[in-house]
Amino acid sequence: MNGLLVHIDSEEDIFLAISRTRYLAGDMFRKEELQALFVTVLELTRNALKYAGGKAIFTCQLVEGGLRLQVIDKGPGIANLDEIFSGNYRSKTGLGLGLQGARRLMDAFEIETSEKGTIIRATKWTSQRRT
Ligand SMILES: Nc1ncnc2c1ncn2[C@@H]1O[C@H](COP(=O)(O)OP(=O)(O)OP(=O)(O)O)[C@@H](O)[C@H]1O
Ligand SMILES: [Mg+2]
Repeated sequence: MNGLLVHIDSEEDIFLAISRTRYLAGDMFRKEELQALFVTVLELTRNALKYAGGKAIFTCQLVEGGLRLQVIDKGPGIANLDEIFSGNYRSKTGLGLGLQGARRLMDAFEIETSEKGTIIRATKWTSQRRT
């Protein structure tokens, strides 16, 4: 198995996505790297539930030297991305640190967003040497 998909329709699905990610990662990451992945899965899927009304799709894929996460939703999109990453963003619904934190924890982070929905892709490279 080198990839998996979880439909994110309720809070339980978030924990399913995290545990499936754990399974797929196997022993390829250090503890801190795994934690970064878990936080990112949690933040992105939580946002998709909260702001895009669920019906999101989470995928996780093994790539050469790392793991790539993707969350796709069909919500209203993120209108003020620049502001969110400027550090001046004040969230009405949370701390406003989820996306910023996840971007910092991951090695690559891309957002495609429009009024038709949002796709976020994030990759973590492993620092462990494979034998
Ligand atoms: N998938 C999404 N669809 C639409 N809007 C989103 C989505 N994800 C995030 N947002 C918007 O971007 C803002 C910033 O998200 P972020 O996760 O950084 O902070 P937050 O969810 O407000 O607070 P926190 O995650 O710290 O509890 C949110 O307040 C929300 O308005
Ligand atoms: Mg959030």
